[in-house]
Amino acid sequence: MPGLQLQGFNNLTKTLGFNSYDIGYATTPEQQERYIAYLDEAYNAERLTRILQQVAEIIGANILNIARQDYEPRGASVTMLVSEEPIASERIADTETPGPLPDAVIGHLDKSHITVHTYPDSHPDHGISTFRVDIDVSTCGRISPLKALNYLIHSFESDLVSIDYRVRGFTRDVTGKKHFIDHPIHSIQRFLSKDTGERYRMIDVNIAQEHIFHTRMLLKDFALNHYLFGIDPQEVSPCDQAEIERLVRREMAEIFYGGNSLMAYYRYHVFFCTNLRADGSQCCQQCGAQEARDYVKQRVKALGSAIPDKVRINSAGCLDRCAEGPVIVIYPEATWYTYVDRVDLDEIIEEHLVNGRTVDRLRI
Ligand code: FES
Repeated sequence: MPGLQLQGFNNLTKTLGFNSYDIGYATTPEQQERYIAYLDEAYNAERLTRILQQVAEIIGANILNIARQDYEPRGASVTMLVSEEPIASERIADTETPGPLPDAVIGHLDKSHITVHTYPDSHPDHGISTFRVDIDVSTCGRISPLKALNYLIHSFESDLVSIDYRVRGFTRDVTGKKHFIDHPIHSIQRFLSKDTGERYRMIDVNIAQEHIFHTRMLLKDFALNHYLFGIDPQEVSPCDQAEIERLVRREMAEIFYGGNSLMAYYRYHVFFCTNLRADGSQCCQQCGAQEARDYVKQRVKALGSAIPDKVRINSAGCLDRCAEGPVIVIYPEATWYTYVDRVDLDEIIEEHLVNGRTVDRLRI
């Protein structure tokens, strides 16, 4: 809202919720315990405080007060009160303990805070552990928590990230008009650096008219060594390696899609409608669906390991979207496409199956 004269100050509340997940595998309960202890120490309250101080500096906020706590046996929290404008008052506490603030400051600091909490978690039977870090950056005024996003992603080097961003309330200009947002935003993804965009597979759930945005991120590259804790990969049989990979990937998929046992056997299961209607009425086979299916199957086979995940191409009967055909649907995300020729099919292979990005122009 550059140049706009406001009635009072900009009191839009902008809240960034940042969840980071780090996954590890250990063979014994003792190793699991050591893995969690290692991360717990790496992200103790002191280190987390330094990260939040850096966040405050990046977004241009002034720190008024810090409280922090390491818990027994695991976990840590830090909370930080911040303000947009420099506060010149000797009465404001600057020690690392909670303390009272002058009334005048409290009135303007509603929802202006940065907090972090850590949550170590272990599967009781399968050797999987997940270390979760939750950070909330909530500001009231012109400063934007989104500025800290790339710093946070690089600070935690996460296997998965879940991000929420919401703008709440309104601010009024001198004519009495309400303004519910003061900056353009279509997707959190647009605030991420190029290297981050290349390293993660991402999905969005946005309710733009309500100024609510959500992005989930899953690391694209999978190297089993990265997830083994206290285990020499040379001493693990190929069969056990495959089983550990299955467990780690399932854990990641369940967090990414937000549900239990969502890990499909195939990363992408592609169904081509190849239905042929004997009466000559509209059907996918009229548009060469069988030939298209055979082409994609042969291309996927030829690509081999260039496709990072397991892909299966199958024929299907009528999928009941005949008027939009020829159609395919790709699970587990249930992404529907139509296509005309091999150019379209190649784009679906390259973008969706290889790079994990949807091809918006072909979606139905
Ligand atoms: S014939 Fe293909 S969707 Fe019905």
